[in-house]
Amino acid sequence: MSNSNVTLTTPDHSVSLPLVEGSQGPSCVDIASLYRETGHFTFDPGFAATAACKSAITFIDGEKGVLLYRGYPIEQLAEQSRFLEVAYLLLEGELPTAEQMHAFEDQITHHTMMHESVKNFLHGFHYDAHPMAMLCASVASLSAFYHDTTDNEDPAQRKLAAIRLIAKMPTLAAAAYRYSIGWPIRYPRNNLEYVDRFLHMMFEVPSEPLKINAVAAKALDLLFILHADHEQNASTSTVRLVGSTGANPYASVAAGIAALWGPAHGGANEAVLKMLTEIGTPANVSKAVERAKDKNSGFRLMGFGHRVYKNFDPRAKIIRATCHEVLDKLGVNDPLLDIAMKLEEVALKDDYFIEHKLYPNVDFYSGIIYKALKIPTEMFTVMFAIARTAGWISHWIEQHEMPGGRIGRPRQVYVGATPREYKAIENR
Ligand code: ACO
Repeated sequence: MSNSNVTLTTPDHSVSLPLVEGSQGPSCVDIASLYRETGHFTFDPGFAATAACKSAITFIDGEKGVLLYRGYPIEQLAEQSRFLEVAYLLLEGELPTAEQMHAFEDQITHHTMMHESVKNFLHGFHYDAHPMAMLCASVASLSAFYHDTTDNEDPAQRKLAAIRLIAKMPTLAAAAYRYSIGWPIRYPRNNLEYVDRFLHMMFEVPSEPLKINAVAAKALDLLFILHADHEQNASTSTVRLVGSTGANPYASVAAGIAALWGPAHGGANEAVLKMLTEIGTPANVSKAVERAKDKNSGFRLMGFGHRVYKNFDPRAKIIRATCHEVLDKLGVNDPLLDIAMKLEEVALKDDYFIEHKLYPNVDFYSGIIYKALKIPTEMFTVMFAIARTAGWISHWIEQHEMPGGRIGRPRQVYVGATPREYKAIENR
């Protein structure tokens, strides 16, 4: 840790502000005393240059396209690990021993059931409800079912809530989907592994047994690894902001799900497929790229650009390679993949995209893989939520374990009316 300072000079003051150094990444100017010393706030809409917390979970170098979970490169985890091991790593900070892994998996497996009343709760939704709406509401409702894990001060309760959330998310997600298509809800099978169990709950029908396709299960596990965490993105920051008020873990994670839903964030995977379908053929790609460059069109290339990555998103590189392999192995010939490849080729050569450093992000190719796995489009963001739960709850726990936690409470630049006198209605 460095003890250097920077000096900030305003017309009236000169203030010395300490620099905060992490183990990697740019140093941060600690402005906590700025208002007290100078009477000024800082203005950073979208938090483009603001670190809101210290965290030891995930590191991103957006210029170099580096992503580390607890210090391990995403490429190594994608190649050698599996989702539940990554979830353990995010939660605990270290890779598990075989014994620890076995115990963790056993715990997850034995917390996958949902309370029967949650099922009734889902049945209250209109048949055509979006599964993200059902997931968000049913996760928020968990605090009403599990009172034994809402004391945020108890480390054992925090851990049990994390296990419950990671374990139940696939059950709730699959139930929301099946309800939306009028299929009977499937209970989780303890003899199956995490991803296989989810596929079983999604696709098993009463009329015939389901054979889990190993290629599909491996691809889904990989996608879960790649989506498991991404430091202080919009949904994780939401979880932390809500968590900072002392809200329970289920309410905090439900808020994260709501934040994820937007097309600028996790909803992008659904939006990419819609965009590719609308483009229709590789011949229309150039027109779409021209439209994306025209600010008046209101159209952006979905799956392109990232607040942090100004280089290839390392997750997109992995997914791109996997996409071809998975489609080949599953014998799927999806014309949308041809459109996606053409779009990537044209955009990456285009001056606008080069100058703006806009590269494909994690969601550009993920939807094509989900589609090949027969996961319906409206479930894409739900898939993201299942995986990101591991990250959200790891951040929520870290926030509670780190000393000095305070409620998150940003300030504003007020641009409204200045003081004025109230007028009685007859005088307006
Ligand atoms: N297509 C066309 N132009 C774009 C795109 C895009 N996809 N993304 C950014 N730009 C342009 C903007 O118009 C802006 O141009 P200007 O400086 O000339 O005005 C510039 O690039 C910067 O854009 P911002 O919106 O300021 O960048 P920001 O960091 O706030 O937004 C975001 C990042 C939301 C991801 C944006 O790139 C975007 O909307 N992408 C499409 C949606 C998407 O794929 N979201 C998923 C992100 S990854 C994830 O959450 C999993």
